[in-house]
Amino acid sequence: MRALVTGGTGRIGSAIVARLQGEGWTVVAAGRADGDLAAVEQARALVERAVEELGGLDLLVNAAGEGFAPRAVTEVTEADWDAAFGATVKGSFFVTQTAAAHLRASHGCIVMIEDVAAYQPWPSFAAHCAAKAAQAMLTRVLARALAPEVRVCGVAPGPVAVEPD
Ligand SMILES: NC(=O)c1ccc[n+]([C@@H]2O[C@H](COP(=O)([O-])OP(=O)(O)OC[C@H]3O[C@@H](n4cnc5c(N)ncnc54)[C@H](OP(=O)(O)O)[C@@H]3O)[C@@H](O)[C@H]2O)c1
Repeated sequence: MRALVTGGTGRIGSAIVARLQGEGWTVVAAGRADGDLAAVEQARALVERAVEELGGLDLLVNAAGEGFAPRAVTEVTEADWDAAFGATVKGSFFVTQTAAAHLRASHGCIVMIEDVAAYQPWPSFAAHCAAKAAQAMLTRVLARALAPEVRVCGVAPGPVAVEPD
């Protein structure tokens, strides 16, 4: 079985990669060095390279994300906003769009790593909450758009991979 995990070098993504590998999957674990997912052409190129390397695709995990930093609403900059939306929303969408035909062929699965922030209004994380809510809606839209061949699921963890206080 063959998987592409975006954010596969991160805290959540690397745990997913280790579990998949432990269960016998062949995995492309992508980090920033494999392409900036906020740039559409780089997002597409990553999927094409992974499919070529793996010889197809059975699972896509969208776990790339950035811009998780507390900011008062009055302090949020355009760069903060773009960081929050880049890999999480634009990246998840265009990676999925490029992977769709391959996953249809294998009757594969997509897992979107969401966040409870999609559903909870955190005053110091306006851009992050808005981006995660957008991504959570993409899960639902993509699930309908790619059914029945591809199953699209979202997982919205609370704080599971953070430094202890
Ligand atoms: N940590 C938690 O407790 C927690 C809880 C709920 C939800 N989540 C969600 O889980 C996802 C991952 O969080 P995390 O804590 O694992 O984050 P993280 O440790 O900061 O890892 C982020 C991952 O995304 C990659 N990445 C960031 N920006 C990118 C870009 N522009 N293009 C390509 N790759 C990029 C990073 O690559 P590099 O390694 O190369 O930097 C890394 O692999 C996020 O969507 C977050 O909202 C996390």
